[in-house]
Amino acid sequence: MTDRATLLPSSGPAEGSGRKVTTNRRFSTLADAIALHAGAESASFHTPGHKGRSPADFASFFDAHPRQADLTELPGLDDLSCPTGVLRDLEARAAGIWGAAESIISVNGASAALEATMLALAAHGTTVLVPRNAHRSIIHGLVLSGLFPLWYEPVWDDEWGLWGSVAATSVERLLERLGSETAGLIIVSPTYAGAISDIQAIAGLCRDYGIPLVVDEAHGAHFVPKTTMPVSAVGLADVTVHSLHKTLPALTQTGLLHIRRNSLLVPDALRSTMQLLQSSSPSYLLMASIEQALQQVELQQAQESIGRLDCLCRQLREAVSNLPEYTCYAPPAGSDPSHILLGCPGRQPEQLYGFLAERGIFAETILGNGVLFMLGLGTTAADVQLLTAALSDFGADVMAEPAGVSAFVGMPPPAPRPSEIVQILSPRQAFMMPATVVPVNDSVGRISQATIAPCPPGTPLLVAGQRVPAEILECAGLQSLRVVVDD
Ligand SMILES: Cc1ncc(COP(=O)(O)O)c(C=O)c1O
Repeated sequence: MTDRATLLPSSGPAEGSGRKVTTNRRFSTLADAIALHAGAESASFHTPGHKGRSPADFASFFDAHPRQADLTELPGLDDLSCPTGVLRDLEARAAGIWGAAESIISVNGASAALEATMLALAAHGTTVLVPRNAHRSIIHGLVLSGLFPLWYEPVWDDEWGLWGSVAATSVERLLERLGSETAGLIIVSPTYAGAISDIQAIAGLCRDYGIPLVVDEAHGAHFVPKTTMPVSAVGLADVTVHSLHKTLPALTQTGLLHIRRNSLLVPDALRSTMQLLQSSSPSYLLMASIEQALQQVELQQAQESIGRLDCLCRQLREAVSNLPEYTCYAPPAGSDPSHILLGCPGRQPEQLYGFLAERGIFAETILGNGVLFMLGLGTTAADVQLLTAALSDFGADVMAEPAGVSAFVGMPPPAPRPSEIVQILSPRQAFMMPATVVPVNDSVGRISQATIAPCPPGTPLLVAGQRVPAEILECAGLQSLRVVVDD
């Protein structure tokens, strides 16, 4: 069983970063570790969105016979590198659901789709507008493409210690200043914590400036048109990327790259860059699980499945609003109902995470000053009841404690706003240069060759080509750093 003593949150600079919760338990095999976790878990509020359940209505051949379904490019099974048959049809179904002109399957998650998009963007210029909360796959895309990042800041939330949405007015100012020089604009919406940006307004601005807009909607695949969920970026941005395992019930490592009609990034270019980054033996298990996920969000089924998810999200939010010990992250520009970030003033988020884990309830992560819970299509009413009861018990413990015993009173001190990134070289230039490893104390002021972006959430604390800031010394556990030679 997981116990509080074995959960070890690591600390780092609190710039909207997740704090990894690890355990000091050692297992002899991966299979043992997985089995132990699965046996201990009574409710999942983390990825993947299937929550360990097969969709009952659509349980297919591969659920019953996974090894027989683990196939290759045999007659009738098509070829993902150049799909013309059953896989092309599957992509067309995906495009139909979200209203894309074309969709491309990824068997390497949203990560490969974002990296492929960055490679395709390089044909449009040498610099790209990148938000401070970009996922590390964007940084990897910078290394692969050679694009130079022009960093911009979404709204910083002091109370939660997080980057949030991007205001259309800020984008307008950015484009006025830099629009003519740049190959494209990247936006993360929804963010990991669920903040949504006004993509409609931003897409209009990008169109006016003739700049490709790329939306990392990895956490918003459940934004299905004609449901109660927020509007998806798919019909608006030139490229929108989905991760299918975060909230939908596809297996981990699945994603989609959607291209809108009249996109400035053409499908052919994106298909060839995707080919560079995908295995030549894409897993049919993964692709069959994409089909299962699509079945759940297609036509009438979407009303039911997304409606059920929305209802569970509302139930949980309402239950929490009746528990005075908690605060719930509510970004002003709107939020994704399925990602719920909770703080408990008077307690460290690590304590809440540990308390729940002892009861077999696993949250996604500790993020900023809160604990992040993710609901997905596999979430059940029983999961929500279990979590609500445990939150209530934890809250009662907090209230029962005599004043002054708590680790602190009120919310934790606000996380400091991260310092500006001073990007000296492009990530690719830094990556290709001779480098040396130095003790972290000696790295400040030098140019980093390393990118540090622990997952979750995978947002960078340090980017290759950046001048190493003094804050790096607060990064617990970091003893040495690779820096470029002759800077
Ligand atoms: C904002 C964001 N974008 C992209 C990704 C990459 O998604 P995937 O795990 O499907 O590769 C993640 C993963 O956590 C993410 O949080």
